[in-house]
Amino acid sequence: MSRSVTVRAPGKINLQLAVGPVGDDGYHPLATVFQAVDLYETVTATDREDDEITVTVEAPRTLGIDPASVPTDASNLAVKAALALRESYGLDLGVDLHIVKGVPVAGGMAGGSADAAAALVACAEAWGAAVSRTELDEIAAGLGADVPFSLHGHTAVGLGRGSDLSPAMSRGQFHWVLATQSDGLSTPAVYGRFDDQVAGGAVVDDDPRISEELMGALMSGDPRRVGAALSNDLQAAALNLAPHLTRVMDAAREAEALGVIVSGSGPTVAALARSRQHALAIAAHIGAEDVAHTVLTASGPAPGATIL
Ligand code: C5P
Repeated sequence: MSRSVTVRAPGKINLQLAVGPVGDDGYHPLATVFQAVDLYETVTATDREDDEITVTVEAPRTLGIDPASVPTDASNLAVKAALALRESYGLDLGVDLHIVKGVPVAGGMAGGSADAAAALVACAEAWGAAVSRTELDEIAAGLGADVPFSLHGHTAVGLGRGSDLSPAMSRGQFHWVLATQSDGLSTPAVYGRFDDQVAGGAVVDDDPRISEELMGALMSGDPRRVGAALSNDLQAAALNLAPHLTRVMDAAREAEALGVIVSGSGPTVAALARSRQHALAIAAHIGAEDVAHTVLTASGPAPGATIL
């Protein structure tokens, strides 16, 4: 009898993304603060009689996501996750994966990483593989810098490539507006532009550090302080590749957002609101300015990968 397991995993916003100069391994040293938000990717894994791994993708229309923009070949991160888990455990089992999108595609919110996190947990359960949390973390880090965070959720500090995680103290809920674009930005392209800017003389910290101001603000639970402490070293590179994002940021500021940043490598713009009501007002203003593809509201922190 086949067994189906459904897991949801959250997308994220980087409240701080401090980026150092590229290393010999092609990666950049990071000091980042992640916050998971309640936009989730949902992955259902159904085990198969044979050893095939298949994937199908569905996206609710309201999110403005085109399911066809998500690859269904071996480059899909959920497929990579299933393969990596199978390899680690010497299994020869197959699985049908069904993804329901809830996080913008190629938006800088780690939607693909959430697919990988959810697929790891769902496959482990569907295959009855006794995998410890530490082993899952290791496989997750091999799949992408943001995958371990999607497993864990809540608010966390990420060092190294972003995957060396430790929990961060945070009080209360924060209300966000997320303005997406129809054309995504490629993460390597944004890091590449960052490298060009560094080569052109832009000042970077060799040893990126977590902002004490932000950590204090999160502990206080005061969204004004958090809004003032938001920062993203990839923002200039993302704006250089997608200059129209400044119009989205301006629209959020006009609606009195407490802080506005490009999320991760973009192009999603994240604006922090005073309250849920205020988030809806900011979203309405950005919508009226017609500068974004879709405008969503979300709150965080949200839990990590969870079996439903
Ligand atoms: O790890 P992940 O697959 O999310 O990274 C995608 C790309 O982003 C990498 O191939 C690399 O170009 C860039 N990256 C980086 N430094 C990091 C994380 C990602 O340069 N710390």
